[in-house]
Amino acid sequence: MSSNDNLSSESKERDRKESLPHESQKPPLRLGVLISGSGSNLRALIDAIERQQLPGVEIALVVSNKADAYGLQRALKHKVPAIYLPWSNGGAGFTPARSTPAQSTLARSTLTPAAPSPAMSPGESQLSVLLHLFQVDLVVLAGWMRILSATFLEQFPQRVINIHPALLPDNGIGNTYTTSNGTHIPVFRGLHAVQQALDAGVKITGSCVHFVTPQVDAGPVICREEVAIEVGDTEESLHERLKAVEHRLIVEAVRKYKP
Ligand code: GRF
Repeated sequence: MSSNDNLSSESKERDRKESLPHESQKPPLRLGVLISGSGSNLRALIDAIERQQLPGVEIALVVSNKADAYGLQRALKHKVPAIYLPWSNGGAGFTPARSTPAQSTLARSTLTPAAPSPAMSPGESQLSVLLHLFQVDLVVLAGWMRILSATFLEQFPQRVINIHPALLPDNGIGNTYTTSNGTHIPVFRGLHAVQQALDAGVKITGSCVHFVTPQVDAGPVICREEVAIEVGDTEESLHERLKAVEHRLIVEAVRKYKP
C-alpha cells in the first residue's frame, strides 16, 4: 500500500469520526418525573443533575396528582417545571403548582385537555398530552400512586420506570425472590410493600427500579439492592433506610437507560 493510500484512509477515518455526533451534541434525555408525595427520589435526580453526575439528562417536567405533594415545592425551588394534575375527577384540567414570585420558571399550560380515549382515564389522557407536549423521553414514577393502564403504557414503550420498595426477580415476574445468601422470600407488590416485608418476618428486603408493565410491580428489573431488616424496625425506620438506597438506584437506572 502506498503512503497516499494510507493518508487517504486516515483522512476518511477522520471524516467519519467528525461526522459522528459528539456526546455533548446528542439531544438531552428528557425526564418526566411523576410524584405523589415527598419527592425525595426526585430530589436525588435533581441533585445528580446539578452535580453533573448525569450528563446529557434533564428534567423536562414534574407532575403530581396531589396538590400538596412536597415534591412540587422541591421542583419549583430548583426551577424545574412542575404541574399539579388533579386525578380523581379528571375533568379539572391542568393547574400549575403555586410558586413564589421568585420561582418563575413554572410551566403555565393553557391547553385544553384532549378528549379521553375509551381505554384511558381522563387523567391518563391529560398526562399523556403533557408528557408529549414537554417532549419527555423517559417517564420516572418516583412515588407515583396511580396505576397506569396498558393503553397509556403503549404510548411509551420501554420508557416508563418505577421505584419499588421491595425486591423483584430479574424479569419482574413470579412470587419468589432468592436473596444473595440463597434465602427464598416472597415478592411483595402493591401498597405497603415495606410493611408486608415486616409482617412476613423476612430478614432481608430491598428496593429496585424496574420497567413498568400493565401488571403492577412486575416489570423487568434495571437495578436492585438488598437491605437487611433490623430488630425493632418499624415501617418508618425501614422505609427510611430503603429510601437512602433508592436515591442511588434511581440515578443509576437513569444512567443505565438506553433509548
Ligand atoms: C419510595 O419509597 C418508592 O419506593 C415508593 O414511593 C416512595 C416515594 O418516596 N414507590 P419519595 O416521594 O421519593 O420520597
